[in-house]
Amino acid sequence: MRTRVGIVGAGPAGLLLSHLLHRNGIDSVVLETRSRSYIEKRVRAGVLEAPTVELLREAGVADRLDRESLTHHGILLRFDGVEHRIDFADLVGKAVTVYGQQELVKDLVATRVRDGGDLRFEVRDVSLHDLTTDSPWIGYTDRHGRPQVLDCEVIAGCDGFHGVTRQAAPTLTALEHRYPFAWLGILARTPPTRAEVVYAAHDRGFALASMRTPEISRLYLQVSTEDTPADWPAERIWTELSARLGEEIRPGEILETINTDLRAFVAEPMRHGRLFLAGDAAHIVPPTGAKGLNLAIADVALLADAFTALLAENDERPAESYSDTALRRVWRAQRFSSLMTDMLHRSPGEDRFQRYLQLSQLHHTVSSTAAATSLAEDYVGPPFARTI
Ligand code: FAD
Ligand code: DHB
Repeated sequence: MRTRVGIVGAGPAGLLLSHLLHRNGIDSVVLETRSRSYIEKRVRAGVLEAPTVELLREAGVADRLDRESLTHHGILLRFDGVEHRIDFADLVGKAVTVYGQQELVKDLVATRVRDGGDLRFEVRDVSLHDLTTDSPWIGYTDRHGRPQVLDCEVIAGCDGFHGVTRQAAPTLTALEHRYPFAWLGILARTPPTRAEVVYAAHDRGFALASMRTPEISRLYLQVSTEDTPADWPAERIWTELSARLGEEIRPGEILETINTDLRAFVAEPMRHGRLFLAGDAAHIVPPTGAKGLNLAIADVALLADAFTALLAENDERPAESYSDTALRRVWRAQRFSSLMTDMLHRSPGEDRFQRYLQLSQLHHTVSSTAAATSLAEDYVGPPFARTI
């Protein structure tokens, strides 16, 4: 079997890339280890930057998003028992959109299926070959257990942090930073108490209150990296959320729980021969800035342009600049996510000097228009770079 672009991974990056290429008249095949129903239920991120939403609209995949999402014109920062608002509308004239990642995944899968896209679920043993030639290929086992070969012109590695494509690129260098704390996240049937996302820096640790609908909240707590689910029975979660968020959070049915380590990771360059990495396959940011999903979308916006120039016009330049251009945004998001993470969490073993610096950073952020504007610019997202 032959296709022009072989895409490994049907997360937001792989699915949107396949859709953007289709709109430019370029065929692709998407290979995914999980089932369609699994990826459509996987709860993860929820905040979409302004440029992400603009791109989804331009690409014709934002109808349900426009009907069902929530528009947020600011965020709330809470510390020392006081809540402060960063007003994006006022500071930068933009907003963010709250829409669950799995809803976006559902919309993208439905659009690809409607357009006759080739999505192959439940594949195994994906391996990449001949990446430094003009005819790379992917070996895999299909859902019926049959070995298959997919001949391609280029390959996109969109298989997330634990995927296999990054390992197939021996020339990459990886930079990593691990944080000494973790997050416990729940999705729960309890109405959000605020109309916007709350970031709370409390003496007991960080807490975040977000939402998916007017009935469903998404709530996170900073926990120890050593904690297990047994350390966090429901009652403790609710008590701790109320304490850190400074108000009664009404317990509701917990629909989903996640534990996630906080890490920053960048693989560079994001290309090896005819393999191009995008999204979590190439980089991870700590979630405090809500950037992971947005970076994945920004990468594939660039990559769709680069593949189109290469395959439709034989113009190699956008493919050659892909990694450098993508990495500029990645490092900007790393800087912002690191700043937000450092400003809001308690670190084990931190001394009073560090704590006072942190509080000073928080006070500065809410009292200086320049500092608040800087946060707002990063949070709503800088415009996407386009190469064609
Ligand atoms: P993914 O969504 O990871 O998609 C990769 C796809 O590849 C998956 O469907 C996977 O099944 C598939 N795959 C893996 N290996 C293979 C293989 N060998 N062959 C074929 N397919 C394969 N970001 C935020 O901004 N805010 C958050 O609150 C937030 N919470 C998160 C919670 C968790 C538990 C995780 C893991 C991530 C979270 N993120 C969050 C990050 C955000 O969800 C990711 O940045 C986003 O999913 C990246 O999209 P992607 O398409 O690059 O990768
Ligand atoms: C959400 C997640 C984040 O990491 C964040 O910073 C804000 C909101 C969310 O899941 O809604």
